Amino acid sequence: VVDIRKLYSETGLFTFDPGFKSTASCESGLTYIDGGEGILLHRGYSIEELSERSSFMETSYLLLNGELPTKEELDNFTYTITRHTMVNEQLNQLYKGFRRDAHPMAIMCGVVGALSAFYHDSTDIADPDQRKIASHRLIAKMPTIAAMAYKYSIGQPFVYPDNSLSYTGNFLRMTFGVPAEEYVVDPVVEQALDRIFILHADHEQNASTSTVRLAGSSGANPFACIAAGIACLWGPAHGGANEAALNMLHEIGRPERIPEYIERAKDKNDPFRLMGFGHRVYKNYDPRATVMRKTVREVLSALNVQDPVFDVALQLEEMALSDDYFVEKKLFPNVDFYSGIILSAIGFPTTMFTALFALARTVGWVSQWNEMISDPAQTIGRPRQLYTGPAARPFVEIGDR
Ligand code: ACO
Repeated sequence: VVDIRKLYSETGLFTFDPGFKSTASCESGLTYIDGGEGILLHRGYSIEELSERSSFMETSYLLLNGELPTKEELDNFTYTITRHTMVNEQLNQLYKGFRRDAHPMAIMCGVVGALSAFYHDSTDIADPDQRKIASHRLIAKMPTIAAMAYKYSIGQPFVYPDNSLSYTGNFLRMTFGVPAEEYVVDPVVEQALDRIFILHADHEQNASTSTVRLAGSSGANPFACIAAGIACLWGPAHGGANEAALNMLHEIGRPERIPEYIERAKDKNDPFRLMGFGHRVYKNYDPRATVMRKTVREVLSALNVQDPVFDVALQLEEMALSDDYFVEKKLFPNVDFYSGIILSAIGFPTTMFTALFALARTVGWVSQWNEMISDPAQTIGRPRQLYTGPAARPFVEIGDR
C-alpha cells in the first residue's frame, strides 16, 4: 500500500485511477470485504452470522457504536429509534407536490434532503450530540419516509408509525396497512425483511457511501449528505440493480430463453448486461447473495408462493456459472440478483426495491459519515484530474470566430 498523501507532499506526484479501482479513500473500522474469498464482516462479525442470529436494530447498533449491545443497550437504542419515527406534519405537503407517478427514489432524494430544513438542532456537525441525534433521526425516519412515498404513489392515506411494533414490523404496517388498524404483521415476512435490511446495512466504500463521505467532507449537514447517497444509489449499476434484475428475469420469462440472454450479455456490441451479476470487489460468490438465495426458498415456501421467476433465476445462475465468459471474468450473482424475488413475494412493487435498499443502507451511511467526521485527519475530498482540453489560447472576439 502506497501512502499517496506522503507521495504527493514529497514529490508532487499523483495517481490516475478512474473509478477508484485501486485507491483507498479513507481508513475505516466498519466493514471488511475479502472479494477473492467472498468474505464480508461488520466490525469483525460475519454477514452469515449477523443475518442468521442478529436483528437489524442490533446490527445497526454494532455499525454505529463498534460493539454488539448488551440487552439494556439494545433496549435503549431501540427505544430511542422508536421515539424518532414520526416526520414533521408539514412534510406531507412536500409529498403532495410530487406527481402521483413519481419514482419513490425521486421522492426520497427530495424528502430526505428537506429534513435539513426541519431539524436545525441536529445540523451542527462539530457537536457530537447533534451528530448522534441526526443519525438516530435518519435511521428512525427512513421507514416512515419510504412507506409514505409508496402510499402516495398508490393514492392511499399515509399511515402513522405504530411504535409498539418492531422497526421492520412498523415499516410493513405503514406500507401495507389498509386499514392500518387491522394490519397484522406476519412474523415470517417480518423476519425475512429484517434479514434483507441486515444484508444491505453497509458495504464499505461503494459508490453511494463514497458519495456520502465526499459530500460530508465539505461540512455539509447529514441530511443533505444522505440525500446525496440516495441519489447515487438509484443508478442501475448500483442499488437500482435490484429493480433491473427482477425486470430482466420477468423479461426472460421462461428457462428456454436464458441462452439468448446469456449470449447477449457476452456480445461486446450489445450494451446488455446480466443485471444482478458481477461486482467491483467480489471475484467470488457475493456472501449476501448466498443468504438471499436461501431466504427466497424459505419465504416462498412459508407464503406458499410459486414464482416461476425463481426457477428462471436459479437456472440462469447455473448456466452463467458454467459459461467460460462468466467464469473467466469471475462474474457471480450479487446481493441484488435474488432480493427482488423476495420483495415481490412480500408485495412490494419493483419501484420500491431501491427505496428499501436506501432505507437499510442509511445506517451504513450515517456510521461511515460519523467515522469520517470524528477522524482528526479528516479533510475535504478533492480528487485531481488529467487535463485533456486545449492549451492556453487568446480569446477570440465573437465576430472573428
Ligand atoms: N454481464 C455481462 N458482462 C459483465 C457484467 C454483467 N453483469 N458485469 C461485468 N461484465 C463484464 C464487462 O463487460 C467487462 O468485460 P471486458 O473486460 O471484456 O470489458 C468485465 O466484465 C468487467 O466489468 P467492469 O464493468 O469493468 O467491472 P466493474 O467492476 O467496473 O463493474 C458492476 C461492476 C458495475 C457491478 C458490473 O459488474 C455490472 O454492471 N453489473 C450489472 C449491474 C449490477 O448488478 N449492479 C449491482 C452491483 S452490487 C450493488 O451495487 C449492491
